[in-house]
This record gives sequence, structure tokens and C-alpha cells, in this order.
Amino acid sequence: MPLHVLNHPLGTHVLTHLRDKTTKPALFRTLSYQIALLLSLEATRDLATEEKKIETPMEPMTGRVLARPLVIVPILRAGLGMVQPFQDIYPDVSIGYVGLERDHTTAIARSYYCKLPPLDGRRTIVVDPMLATGGSAAQAIDVVKAAGAREIVFVCIVAAPEGVATLSQAHPEVPIHAGVLDRQLNAKKYIMPGLGDFGDRLYGT
Ligand code: URA
Repeated sequence: MPLHVLNHPLGTHVLTHLRDKTTKPALFRTLSYQIALLLSLEATRDLATEEKKIETPMEPMTGRVLARPLVIVPILRAGLGMVQPFQDIYPDVSIGYVGLERDHTTAIARSYYCKLPPLDGRRTIVVDPMLATGGSAAQAIDVVKAAGAREIVFVCIVAAPEGVATLSQAHPEVPIHAGVLDRQLNAKKYIMPGLGDFGDRLYGT
């Protein structure tokens, strides 16, 4: 199973405050930024680099720089809460958007928007904070594959075992980076213990 769960005390600290139902949207956004930043480092640990000759104030040397820019694809709307740290620390990031909406009775995702930059030859990081049933994540990865993405990573904040199973069955070669692996889904397909509806908490809706 290509699942990597964040293992860092700061991650645990941030997740606990994110889960807390008394956390208000402003702090929730800051905490989402922090956990997504930690996850971005894990999801890019093996990015390709290439040589670059520079001169330090002391002497010439050959350093290494990132070989290719990243593409981040948030699944709308909750995925937007994870984009900013990627834009802040990685050079020349492009952002694509996939809009998928979960029907609250059937829990099946429906696509309503798609706008993607060229994906061929660039790592495509699909982000969605809650990997619940795995249906939206698998569908979004179908979409980026159809648009030419070959090197794909999925990043979420909270994963349910059911979502990990569905996604790894649909796309076994795609690594999943999660902040935490929770216990299970409830009857309404929410993650337990989870943190509730991420989009609602992010935007105060
Ligand atoms: N989406 C959410 O925002 N929360 C869940 O628990 C599951 C899906």
C-alpha cells in the first residue's frame, strides 16, 4: 500500500487543534497551511534535481536545483486550503483545478469544473484534505492522467482506511501522503474521529 503517514510532533500538535471543534475558521486556515506545508515536504522528498554551477563569495562550486516545476491540483473546494504553502516555497508552481462535488445522499462525486496546465513531464500533486471514500480522489487522478500527468502524488490531511483502499486499488502506483490515518467512515461517509466537514470549517459555511 503506497501510504505514507506524517510522523512529526508538530504535525500531531497541529492536527489536534484542527480537529478541535472550538477552532474557528481563521485559526483553522492557519493550521491547514501549517500541516499542508509539512506534508508538502514529504510529498517532494524525492523530486529530481539537476546540477547548477554557481560562485559562492568564497569560490566556484556546483550546486543542485529542482529540475522541473511542480503542478498542484486542488480538488475544489476544500483542496484550496492546502495550496498556499506549495506556492510559497516551490519555484514556478502551476495550479490546476478539478471541481468535484459529493452528493450528500449517495456520497458519489460529480465533476463540475476542470482547468489544468500542461502536466506532461512535471510532478502533479493532487490535494484534498479528507480522503474519505476515495471516490473523488480516484476520479481526480483519472482526470489528471487523461490530461497527460504521469508522475502523480496524492496528499491529504486525514485519511480513512476505506479511502486508502479505494484509491490504492484504482491507482496503485500513486503514493498517498496523509497527515494521519483515522479509524473508519461513519454511515454518512464522514471520517471518524475526523474533524467534520473541512470545507465548512475552512470557509465558515
Ligand atoms: N469530507 C469532509 O470534509 N469530512 C469528512 O469527514 C469526509 C469528507
